[in-house]
Amino acid sequence: MTAFEQEPLSRSPRKLIVTGGAGFIGSNFVHHWCQKYPGDRVVVLDALTYAGNRNNLAELEGKANLRFVQGDICDRTLIDGLLQEERIDTIAHFAAESHVDRSILGPGAFVQTNVVGTFTLLEAFRHHWQDAGKPASYRFHHVSTDEVYGSLEATDPAFSETTPYAPNSPYSASKAGSDHLVRAYHHTYGMPTLMTNCSNNYGPYHFPEKLIPLMCINILMGKPLPVYGDGQNIRDWLYVGDHCSALDAVIHQGTPGETYNIGGNNEVKNIDLVTMLCELMNELAPDLPVRPAQKLITFVKDRPGHDRRYAIDATKIQTELGWTPAETIEGGLRRTVEWYLTHREWWQPLLSEEYQAYYRQVYA
Ligand code: NAD
Ligand code: TYD
Repeated sequence: MTAFEQEPLSRSPRKLIVTGGAGFIGSNFVHHWCQKYPGDRVVVLDALTYAGNRNNLAELEGKANLRFVQGDICDRTLIDGLLQEERIDTIAHFAAESHVDRSILGPGAFVQTNVVGTFTLLEAFRHHWQDAGKPASYRFHHVSTDEVYGSLEATDPAFSETTPYAPNSPYSASKAGSDHLVRAYHHTYGMPTLMTNCSNNYGPYHFPEKLIPLMCINILMGKPLPVYGDGQNIRDWLYVGDHCSALDAVIHQGTPGETYNIGGNNEVKNIDLVTMLCELMNELAPDLPVRPAQKLITFVKDRPGHDRRYAIDATKIQTELGWTPAETIEGGLRRTVEWYLTHREWWQPLLSEEYQAYYRQVYA
């Protein structure tokens, strides 16, 4: 058991809204939190867009301290009502449009949810916090991405908290906009905000459009594995459970107004990652339609504006809060492949007509 799996001895229960709690990372966070802090009140606020899925929380259905509300973070009246009615002291803000390829096809939804939605939450929480007499224990935690820092060359140092922002996609630009608003709410109003910028996550409940689940599912279906460009782009990969333990550490021990970078110390080229997934599937899946799965690897047209490399310097969270990732890339990928192999009933319904239409648009 790591330090982050143990409940602190003296701790007041929290009342949280988790926005985007039916998405990939948000639902993993709700599982983590409900298991570790069963006395806390958790209100999940999620619009259930194409990426939101109540099945992600199925194992928690019926828990007395968990409430699910389907709603939009841009709906100020709804948020004001929830903050008051539930006497919320903490917002863990995950809700976002999160896929770069979709942001290239249609950036409008990204500005609306990521910028306007975050602004709406900040305003609602500011009034709620001020009306309560500005309690020092309140927290607004904004979950963000390393993509706001732009792209690195092979020999550049990793992103730190002081790296200048240089977002390149509509997704990362909209997240950067929301980050700036969060920063301003601390600086201007003294609101107790926290912010984390994390590298690429992977693990259970990851929607099929993202690299790792897409490759796992295509291997199982015998479909081509579309690798963008030359496959040499580098991402830092973090197992989602480690992201959740980092968020837990920041919410409990982070200094208001501060930003913490979170990373997995796992820089991998896309082609190497896809090859690792093929090898795991060759080993673990007895009935592959195409074997070895590497035969399916297909280089396709590059993503416009494709960032070359992301890397995270996580020294600050490590030295100030004592957090380090527990999972290795080999162990995390094995767990993830096993999860997709044993949860076909979770991902098969997600390959809907809408998803197929999206897929044709990106990969045609
Ligand atoms: P996701 O797309 O899987 O989930 C997003 C969730 O937000 C969905 O449940 C969706 O229904 C909900 N949502 C979208 N618009 C909404 C709205 N207007 N109102 C209420 N709910 C809405 O995303 P994810 O991968 O879980 O990412 C969660 C957060 O973490 C995002 O803010 C993302 O920018 C950030 N992040 C993601 C990664 C990653 O690798 N996935 C890495 C770093 C940071
Ligand atoms: P993705 O999971 O979309 O995350 P992000 O773009 O936010 O980093 O993609 C991870 C990497 O994999 C990125 O370099 C793009 C690449 N990629 C492919 O090569 N093929 C694909 O089909 C997808 C979805 C991504």
